[in-house]
Amino acid sequence: MSHTITAELAAITILESERLFLRNMTPDDVTLLLQHFGNPEVTKFIEAQPIKTLDQANEWLRWMGGFWAAKDGLRRSAIRKEDMTVIGVGGFHRWNREANYAEIGFDILPPYHNQGFATEVAQLLIDFGWQYLKLNRIEADATQGNLALMRVLDKLGFKQEGVLRQRLLKGGKYYDVHRFALLRCEYDGDCS
Ligand SMILES: CC(C)(COP(=O)(O)OP(=O)(O)OC[C@H]1O[C@@H](n2cnc3c(N)ncnc32)[C@H](O)[C@@H]1OP(=O)(O)O)[C@@H](O)C(=O)NCCC(=O)NCCS
Repeated sequence: MSHTITAELAAITILESERLFLRNMTPDDVTLLLQHFGNPEVTKFIEAQPIKTLDQANEWLRWMGGFWAAKDGLRRSAIRKEDMTVIGVGGFHRWNREANYAEIGFDILPPYHNQGFATEVAQLLIDFGWQYLKLNRIEADATQGNLALMRVLDKLGFKQEGVLRQRLLKGGKYYDVHRFALLRCEYDGDCS
């Protein structure tokens, strides 16, 4: 199967794991975005400020929904199979199609934290990244103090490569950002 057909398939494929579906975002997800990215607890480790209005949430939806068209990556909603509730979002951005790397990102709504959902979402995305996007390397950035994210990355086999000192400006204060990556050969268990 050619790279192009694989990538086109990626745009329509619904991913499925034991407890979750990952599907393309829809206009219905705007409430989720407002609820999620309006929560300062959720945005405290990322560049964005909490959003406050439906208009802002719609802007986020357009922005995230546009990742694929812009060839920058993609964003999906994570649905819990048990009750079809949206429990978070996840995807790739900063996709470099020449050197085959992208940055993974995922957010889980606070009521669903610490139940393994981020790990399950990320696992699905990683498999998808190797299979459909033909990635060779997946990067992840964790702001200092984001211990839950660092634990998730560790569980998935990511290695820390360095610290981007004072990379994030948040509320007038600079924070270090830890850069992690997972190589396909590491995942496959053969980097010889
Ligand atoms: C980071 C985040 C995605 C994790 O989601 P989650 O569904 O709770 O993650 P999981 O349940 O798969 O795993 C969390 C792990 O972190 C651990 N953990 C949670 N809080 C922790 C803390 N303060 N210190 C150390 N470990 C912690 C949990 O015990 C668990 O590890 P375990 O399975 O060994 O017990 C979630 O906290 C989140 O959405 N945060 C806000 C947004 C964000 O930071 N997104 C990341 C941008 S890429």
